[in-house]
Amino acid sequence: MVRMGVIGFGEWGPNHVRNFSSLPGVKVVGVADARQERLQAAAQQFEGLHTCSSHRELIDTFELQAVVIATPTSTHAPIIRDALDAGLHVLCEKPVCSTVEDARDIAARADESGRVVMVGHVFLFNSGIRKLRNLIETNELGTVRYLTARRTNLGPIRDDVNAAWDLASHDISIMNFLLNAHPAQVSAVGQGYLDRPLQDVAFLTLTYPDGILANVHVSWLDPVKVREITAVGTAKMVVWNDLSSLGPIQIFDKGVVLGRRYSDFGDFQLLARQGDVTIPHVPMEEPLRAQARQFVSDLSSGSCSISDARFGLGVVKVLTAADESMAQGGRPVPVEP
Ligand SMILES: NC(=O)c1ccc[n+]([C@@H]2O[C@H](COP(=O)([O-])OP(=O)(O)OC[C@H]3O[C@@H](n4cnc5c(N)ncnc54)[C@H](O)[C@@H]3O)[C@@H](O)[C@H]2O)c1
Repeated sequence: MVRMGVIGFGEWGPNHVRNFSSLPGVKVVGVADARQERLQAAAQQFEGLHTCSSHRELIDTFELQAVVIATPTSTHAPIIRDALDAGLHVLCEKPVCSTVEDARDIAARADESGRVVMVGHVFLFNSGIRKLRNLIETNELGTVRYLTARRTNLGPIRDDVNAAWDLASHDISIMNFLLNAHPAQVSAVGQGYLDRPLQDVAFLTLTYPDGILANVHVSWLDPVKVREITAVGTAKMVVWNDLSSLGPIQIFDKGVVLGRRYSDFGDFQLLARQGDVTIPHVPMEEPLRAQARQFVSDLSSGSCSISDARFGLGVVKVLTAADESMAQGGRPVPVEP
């Protein structure tokens, strides 16, 4: 029986308690939160759950093997260090922390400790994203040319990180996963429209190897909730839409016939190759549950098989370069290799 604790019982922490509690071989023993009202809510929602007001108390009291950290991003680094020092395995919410220095230190400590440190880049466990990766890996799209992502909604608005760290962290993790690569350069612009220094809206352009371009638009100041990625390849194009009622993946057998000249619009139209649009069946599972299952399975092997601390460090490097670029009005900034 794996004894687990969850640190942070705000909006997201309860989802971890629910998912881990539903897995065989796991007991969620307790939660820690700095707010009394959240501890009361935890005790009401989950029978028999112990509660405490600090992560240290949780770690010291309940003989845990692992913790989930679901506190605000700016608090992650010291809590991860405390958990690793106590010999615990860690699943930490994304982004792993808020500086490259901390992320590098955490990755090194994870290596030395022999403990599993997984970063909760939950879209890596989304079946639609898995399908898209499979389409790319099996060459169904041909050569990938570019990716675009849109992740917008009205809130939830954070006050410790900007919209890029909160939202684009998902898309960067997805793109790094899809392409199995890191961008070499980022150019980003953003604005804080809500009377705060943090950007509520950001547009990032990432340059991946082999000339693959990627664009990410994130906003928590938008009337419509969108979770969408388009991947354009030389053979086919795919749209992943996490909110589509038809299915998350649409494959467009469309392209452009290269090498032919055209003289007028009619001629030009013939260059566009219009084929079928396919919506494959994608079996769905709650991604957070799939992530929880993988974490528990990694505990028995002792190593993190996906989204480890180094993967999390890669995302933090891109976000840091994006911040630097935004501060310089969009100047392209190299991403630390
Ligand atoms: N993977 C996803 O899709 C997803 C979705 C939402 C949030 N998140 C991530 O989860 C984390 C938490 O987000 P949230 O929306 O739940 O935030 P939240 O502000 O709603 O909740 C955070 C909770 O942590 C508590 N807390 C703060 N510092 C603490 C400390 N030192 N010790 C104990 N408790 C502490 C707060 O009292 C609060 O209840 C963030 O890193 C966020 O990026 C991920």
